[in-house]
Amino acid sequence: MAASNANFKLENLFNVKGKVALITGSGSGIGLMATQALATNGAKVYITGRTPEKLHRVASLYSSNIPGEIIPIPSDITSKESISQLVDEISKRESHLDILINNAGISSSTDDTSPNQPGELQKSLFDDATPMKEWEDVYRTNAMQLYFTTTAFLPLLQKAAERERGWSSTVINITSISGIVKVSQHHFAYNASKAAAIHLTKMLAHEVAESGLRIRVNNIAPGVFPSEMTAGESDEGQKSRLEKGKYEGKVPADRPGKEEDMAGAVLFAVTNQYLNGQTVVVDGGYVLRAGTV
Ligand SMILES: NC(=O)c1ccc[n+]([C@@H]2O[C@H](COP(=O)([O-])OP(=O)(O)OC[C@H]3O[C@@H](n4cnc5c(N)ncnc54)[C@H](OP(=O)(O)O)[C@@H]3O)[C@@H](O)[C@H]2O)c1
Repeated sequence: MAASNANFKLENLFNVKGKVALITGSGSGIGLMATQALATNGAKVYITGRTPEKLHRVASLYSSNIPGEIIPIPSDITSKESISQLVDEISKRESHLDILINNAGISSSTDDTSPNQPGELQKSLFDDATPMKEWEDVYRTNAMQLYFTTTAFLPLLQKAAERERGWSSTVINITSISGIVKVSQHHFAYNASKAAAIHLTKMLAHEVAESGLRIRVNNIAPGVFPSEMTAGESDEGQKSRLEKGKYEGKVPADRPGKEEDMAGAVLFAVTNQYLNGQTVVVDGGYVLRAGTV
């Protein structure tokens, strides 16, 4: 056999050309970074979220002069009915789905953990705590949705794996280092939902594999990245900014994550055919400093 280096070329290792993808919560932040990473490299990316204007702006701004496509389909992934409609919409247009990125998420209110008297701590973490309704909303959006969205798309995902030898289709859940670190970061509800999201990833990866389907389920746990969630807003390009100075001395990288950091992680997790059931932590060393559970 002739010696060959062809398999080691970047365009073969990280090839997403012609792949069909769906990314939830992709009108801003990390979902938009993932959208650009895939569409710029030739994938056809369906983007979804609850705000049509954001999705249409993303599609019109970032679709020009790229080999891929960005196609908006608004939806809310916190109801089974809406997820079913999304499956119907994609099924009308596509015979299969290669890549599903469950990225949509919301944050929760903060709780003051500083008191060191039992009565004061009780007041802060019980009387004045994040309301139970908010715990439920955060859990529904950050944990439950990725279970229901993944299971709803299993037939389309399996079809993608069957049509191409050597390709297993892939689900990437965007979780968080907040589900790994031992500190509450003053938001117990959010962190508990993200720990649940990481465990759901492992259970889904296991059960899907045991059922004999060729669908890999992994999660990316980001540290701090600029987004509407972390910056509170985005500009006319649907992009957000975080001040670098705020992170100096807080994480070994001394800065928030860049869109290229996330793009590289997404392309790796999507294309690596031997990665399954794993957590890819992209955090500039945040977990090293904060410590795990
Ligand atoms: N940025 C970070 O530092 C960081 C770190 C770790 C993990 N994460 C995770 O990364 C993911 C993306 O967040 P982000 O930071 O990029 O914030 P973001 O800019 O606020 O993006 C979240 C997106 O989710 C969409 N969304 C929220 N609820 C939804 C629903 N019910 N149905 C459909 N779409 C919904 C939002 O759009 P609409 O409001 O228009 O629906 C929004 O575009 C989240 O899961 C978050 O927890 C972020």
